[in-house]
Amino acid sequence: MLNYPHVALDFMNRDHQEFDALRDQLLESLNQSPLDLDKLDARLDDLLDHTRHHFAEEESRMQAAQFPPYPMHKGEHDRVLADMTTQMEAWKRGRDAEALKNWLKKDVGNWFVNHVNTMDFITAAFIASRS
Ligand SMILES: [Fe+2]
Repeated sequence: MLNYPHVALDFMNRDHQEFDALRDQLLESLNQSPLDLDKLDARLDDLLDHTRHHFAEEESRMQAAQFPPYPMHKGEHDRVLADMTTQMEAWKRGRDAEALKNWLKKDVGNWFVNHVNTMDFITAAFIASRS
C-alpha cells in the first residue's frame, strides 16, 4: 500500500485506490516462485488498461472545467503511459523479473505518490470548486 492523500473528487480517489491495489497484486505475483507468467502478463495488461481509463477520465474532466494547466498534466500522463508501454514490452521480451519489480516498486511507486500529491491534488480541488 502506498501512502498518498485523498483528493477532492471521489472518482479520482477510487481510481487511485484501484491503481494502488493493482500494483500491490503485481508485486505479490512477482514474489511467487515459480513465476506465473500468464498471470503477470494479464495483471500488467489490467494495470495499463486501468491507467489509460483513469487518465482519460481525468483529462476529459480537466477539459470540461477548462483547467488552465491542462497541457502540463496531460503531458505527464502521456509520458507515464509511454514509459509503462516500454517497460511492458521489455518485460515480455526479456522476462527480467528483477527489473520489472524494481520499476514497479520504485519508479511507479514514487511517481504515483508524487503525482497524486501535486497534479491530481490541485486538479481535483480546482474542478471541485467549479462544480
Ligand atoms: Fe493525473
